Amino acid sequence: MKLTTEQKKFIDELLEKMTLEEKVGQLNLESPSIVGGFDVPFEELIEMLTDGRISQEEFGKIMATAERDYHEDDIRAGMVGALMGNDPIKANELQKIAVEESRLGIPLLMGFDVIHGLRSVFPIAIAEAGSFDDDLMERTAQMAAKESRAYGINWNFAPMLDVARDSRWGRVSEGPGEDPFLASRFARAKIKGLQNNNENVDSYVAACTKHYVAYSACEAGRDYNTTTMSTTQLYNVYLPTFKAAMEEGACSAMASFNDLNGVPCTVNSYTLRDILKGEFGLEGFVVSDANGIRECVTHGIAEDDVDAGIQALNAGLDMDMGTRIFYNHIAKAVKDGKVSMETVDDAVRRILSVKVWLGLFENPYVDEATIEAYKESLPVEHIALCQEAAEKSIVLLKNEDKLLPLNKANKITLVGELADRPDEVVGAWSLAWEKDDCVSIKAGLEAAGAKFEYYPVCGPEGELNSEELKAAIDADSDIVIAVVGEYTSMSGEASSKADITLPGHQQEMLKKLVASGKKVVAVLMNGRPLALGWESEKLSAIIEGWHLGIQMGNAITKVIFGEVNPSGKLASTFSSVNGQEPLYYNHPNTGRPGSKSKFTSKYLDAPIEPCFPFGYGLSYTTFEYSDLKLTETADEIKATFTLKNTGNVAGTEVTQLYMQDVTASLVRPVRELKNYARVELNSGEEKQLTLSLRKCDMGFYNNAGKYICEDGLFRIYVGGNSRDTLEEEIRIQFK
Ligand code: NOJ
Repeated sequence: MKLTTEQKKFIDELLEKMTLEEKVGQLNLESPSIVGGFDVPFEELIEMLTDGRISQEEFGKIMATAERDYHEDDIRAGMVGALMGNDPIKANELQKIAVEESRLGIPLLMGFDVIHGLRSVFPIAIAEAGSFDDDLMERTAQMAAKESRAYGINWNFAPMLDVARDSRWGRVSEGPGEDPFLASRFARAKIKGLQNNNENVDSYVAACTKHYVAYSACEAGRDYNTTTMSTTQLYNVYLPTFKAAMEEGACSAMASFNDLNGVPCTVNSYTLRDILKGEFGLEGFVVSDANGIRECVTHGIAEDDVDAGIQALNAGLDMDMGTRIFYNHIAKAVKDGKVSMETVDDAVRRILSVKVWLGLFENPYVDEATIEAYKESLPVEHIALCQEAAEKSIVLLKNEDKLLPLNKANKITLVGELADRPDEVVGAWSLAWEKDDCVSIKAGLEAAGAKFEYYPVCGPEGELNSEELKAAIDADSDIVIAVVGEYTSMSGEASSKADITLPGHQQEMLKKLVASGKKVVAVLMNGRPLALGWESEKLSAIIEGWHLGIQMGNAITKVIFGEVNPSGKLASTFSSVNGQEPLYYNHPNTGRPGSKSKFTSKYLDAPIEPCFPFGYGLSYTTFEYSDLKLTETADEIKATFTLKNTGNVAGTEVTQLYMQDVTASLVRPVRELKNYARVELNSGEEKQLTLSLRKCDMGFYNNAGKYICEDGLFRIYVGGNSRDTLEEEIRIQFK
């Protein structure tokens, strides 16, 4: 986010004209409060949704008819800086009040959670990261930005950049997986895509990176839980994505709910002022997460709302989401000398800078034609990109005896309630999808002309229908496609799980199908890496489909029938059993790495190896790596190797380069991803390839938060996943 001298001057002049109250108004993010319009209280509605008395769809319908207070009077009085919503007509109405009826005519930021697309829902982030396709990640963000603008949104609460190592945490679905390097490339691509303001004003938004910081390190994988870590871990694992986003000019960040080493991130001046604004140079602003300021009282860090508000603003938190604490108390705190006018001015300047950068002062409204364009069916290019993203995010985990791809003449039995749930393809944090846009797996198979009989049998919850199971077993077909996994509601916020195996009776169904002698292909629909020990041994094939978005059914069908050769890889390690979590490939070594001998780091009752390692994914062809050679230049190590497609069909391989700092002043990870590339090869084709490792990326942050490169021995690994690699050593002396 770069502003011109004139734009900065405009902001200074505007600040001069503002009263203290108007300044405080800019720090206030409101969401339309629900004030009635339905028969049961809102809280009960939420409970009804949670306990299944009403479906997500019914809830959505009720919410659409709810009466809301849009805070028009406050907007008119200049007391609202930003508002949440995704209705373009309402956005225009409210923006008009801000621009034409408030004293200074300052436009509103309109914020919304557009995590993986809005109406055009793309794969959940953990799936899309597995495409290892930076260009795709950027294009989906760009389309999400354009679509957001059409819905009146100019500020996206995305990208979610929490590197997550514990699959019990429900929010693993929203982020780019467990690896800081891949996640940082994801961060850069998303900021470039969302904030691409080279085109016209209607096609970009301000990004809000979240959740800052270390939110995903919650103890025991339980959402909102406390986090404790060393400085080196904070800097090496949890900060890099945010640093990358700031380097790309991200406009804002959201402070996370958790406390970090005892200090809630909402009031943490070390992470907010010193690191984010100081070291990383955020020029825009920081918003709290919903109710985050008030929760500092519950944390036990502030005596009351007033105290929490003062601590937050002084710590560098610029905007209050949802509590009105700034609105109610900051003007007095300034008058009482508890917060300085400079602090308030700095926060306001940051917020105004984003509004100016967005062009809102010149162009605050969504034009009618744009609104109209999204009223009917989705533009074809949106559908095409949703499909491309879904296809590239699919990971083939197992394919015994080359069972897949199937032939359309094969007689298939389709089972699993999820197969026929178009409303379940979108995944967590999808808030504006339309059912008619969504393609279920059953619908995808039908559209492709596949021959199959369908028996739902069971889903992630509820009973197993024995009659349907018997019919599926008796059906005249040798191959069963079982669509199994998790409902959308089983991942995302407040959806941590202690048991991450297949929920409900789904495994029981699979066991009976396998026992009947059928070949079972599982298509997984899930928001987190599942513990798949049994499935990986007993099923014939497994396709990891995640929640792939509106084109899920078509993309999976193409993979099943070989029209698309899968190329996705896992952005996160998969455990075999629950108790292995947190499990991640880039762990430090112990002095006693797990082995067959007794006194080593392992479990008595479970494997220590992952079920599927980070970076893993099969293809319908096979790739062979050979001839790894390292050469050193002034700035880089070049890893040159030969990659050959040794199978019968063309395919795309994600080649990966890992590094190990063999001896360092701190224990370093056994492997760290440092580069990757997608490479297409025809059957039989071979290529000599080079992946580079920049010397400046070979260091690490120490416990003083200082980045250091230490001379010594390094191991370089190249391969198609984090486990199966070629290996060479090199000794490096940094200048
Ligand atoms: C809470 C979530 O933690 C955050 O990700 C989201 O952006 C806000 N609520 C606003 O919906």
